[in-house]
Amino acid sequence: MSDGGHVWWEDAVVYEVYPRSFADADGDGVGDLPGLRSRLGYLADLGVDAVWLTPFYPSPLADGGYDVSDYCGVDPLLGTMADVDGLVKDAAAHQIRVIVDLVPNHCSSAHPLFRAALAAAPGSPERARFFFRDGRGPGGEQPPNNWPSQFGGSAWTRVTEADGQGVHPGQWYLHLYDTSQPDWDWRNPDVPALFEDVIGFWLDRGVAGLRVDVAHGIFKDPDLPDLTGSHPLNAPSPYRHRPELQPLYRSWRAILDSYPAAGFPGARTAIGEVWYDVPETLGPYLEPGGLPQVFNFELILAGWRAAEFRGAIDAALALTGGSRAPWVIGNHDVARPASRYRLDEGFTPQTVSRLIALGDQNAETGARRARAAALVLLALPGSAYIYQGEELGLPEVTEIGAEARQDPRFFRTGGEYPGRDGCRVPIPWSRTGTGFGFSLTSQGDGPAAPWLPQPAQWGRYSVESQLADEHSTLNLYRAALRLRRDHPALGPGTLRWADREGAGPGDGGLLCFAREPGFILAANFGPAPVPLPAHREVLLASGPVTGGSLPPDTAAWLSA
Ligand code: NOJ
Repeated sequence: MSDGGHVWWEDAVVYEVYPRSFADADGDGVGDLPGLRSRLGYLADLGVDAVWLTPFYPSPLADGGYDVSDYCGVDPLLGTMADVDGLVKDAAAHQIRVIVDLVPNHCSSAHPLFRAALAAAPGSPERARFFFRDGRGPGGEQPPNNWPSQFGGSAWTRVTEADGQGVHPGQWYLHLYDTSQPDWDWRNPDVPALFEDVIGFWLDRGVAGLRVDVAHGIFKDPDLPDLTGSHPLNAPSPYRHRPELQPLYRSWRAILDSYPAAGFPGARTAIGEVWYDVPETLGPYLEPGGLPQVFNFELILAGWRAAEFRGAIDAALALTGGSRAPWVIGNHDVARPASRYRLDEGFTPQTVSRLIALGDQNAETGARRARAAALVLLALPGSAYIYQGEELGLPEVTEIGAEARQDPRFFRTGGEYPGRDGCRVPIPWSRTGTGFGFSLTSQGDGPAAPWLPQPAQWGRYSVESQLADEHSTLNLYRAALRLRRDHPALGPGTLRWADREGAGPGDGGLLCFAREPGFILAANFGPAPVPLPAHREVLLASGPVTGGSLPPDTAAWLSA
C-alpha cells in the first residue's frame, strides 16, 4: 500500500474545492464540475497533490449540498457522472488525486428513504432507519428530548401523520443540523449496508479518498437521554464521540485497504471531520486500523500568539505527528484566515459577527498574518489542507445582505449568527467583468450573477491580478509549494523547537522551529521586529525581510 515506504497522504497538500464557488463552466452563476475540470491546470501549477470536493450530489441545497438526496448521483446543476469520471481522469493526468465527501450522519428530507419513512406508519421498518419518536407531554407536543440543532433551535421536528384517524400532528424526527437533514439511525443494519455500497461506488470510480462529514456524531446513545448540566460545544455527549464509532471505522478501513491503488501508487485514504473541545479527544479515532486520518483544527482554534500556536502544534504533534492529523487554517465552515487573524483570538461561533463589527479596521494586519500562517502551515510535519481562495488571501465577505444569505445557520438563529456564506463567495479569476471571471462562458446576454454576491473590490484578489504581481499571496503559495516538494526537510518527519536560548516558549512573539536537514521556520507574532535566528539564506518570506530582522506578522523559511 505504500510507495517505497512512503504513503502519499502522509504529507499530501490537499486543496479543498467548494464546487459551487470555484468555477462555473456553463454561465449560470453556479460553479460546476466542468468548471473545476477546466481549472485543473491552475491547481497543478499551484502544486497541490489532491483535491477534496465538498458534496456535488443531488440535493435541495438547504445546507450547501450537505443535504444529500442521492449519494451516488451528481446534481444536474453541477454536472453529470461523466464529468466526475472525466475529472478523475484529467486530475490524474496532472498528478492530482480526487477525494470526495461522504455524509453519513444525515441525508436530505428529499432522500427517497426518508420520504418512504414519512409515508410509513410509526413503528414501521421505514421509520426505523431514522430516529422517529413520540413527543413528550400529554399530546406529544414536546420534543422527545432537549437536544439542540447545531444550526440553532431544537434538533427535533414534528411530522404530520395521514392515517386512519385523518391528518394530525404525529411523531418527531431527529436532525442534529437543519430540519431538512434527518439523522440516520446507525444501529439499523440497513444504514451501514447502504453506506458500504456508497463507499464502494466512489472507490470503484477511482477516487483516492473520502472526507467523512460529522465523523464524531453518527452514533447516538440509544436511550436518547436529555443533555444535563452544561455541555461545551464539542465535548463528549450522547451524540458525540461514541465508542461504537471505532468498530465502524475499522470496517471502513478494511474496505479502503482492500482497494487497489487508484491510478497512482499508494493506498486510498479517509479523513474524518471530528470537532473536539480538547485535542486528546482525537485519540481513539487515531488508534491503528481506524480511519487513516482526522483533521486537527488546532491552527483554526489558536489565537494569534506565538505561545498559542506553539501549544497548538505541540498538542497535535503529540497525537500522531501531522501525518494522520493534517493541518488546516481554514475551510468552508469557518471565517477566512485573512480576516480571522485580525482578531487576536482563535475561531469561535462569534467570530463572523465580530468581524462584521470591525468593518475595515486592521484589514492589512489580517492579510499579513494569513500569509505568515500559510508559511507555518506548510512547514509543519505531515499533511496540510488549503481551502480554495486561501492562496489568494481572500478575506471573509462580511457585507452580504440578509436577502442574499443562504446558510441555514443564519435562518435558524434568526440572524444572530451570520453563518458561513462569507467564506463561500465565488472565486475571482479575472480583474474585471461579471463575476470576475467566475463564469467561463455566458448564457444569452452574459453570465448570470454569481450565486453569492462578490464585493466590488474582488478583482484585486483575482488570479489574473496576482499572477502579474511577484509579491502576491498566490505567488507566495506557489513558491512555498514548490520548495516544499523539493526541500528534503519538508513533508513528513519531526520538528525541533528552536526558540532563542533563555527565552520561554514563544517568548517575545517569535515562533521558531528547525527541521532536518537544514531548515528553519521563524514567525514573528509580536508587535515589534525581532532579529532573525542564525541562518545561511532566506529561502522565502511572507513579507519584506531586510537588515536581518523579521517584521511583525511575518514568517520566513530559512536555510540553516
Ligand atoms: C460539516 C460540514 O463541513 C458543514 O458544511 C455542514 O453544514 C455540516 N457538517 C453538516 O453536514
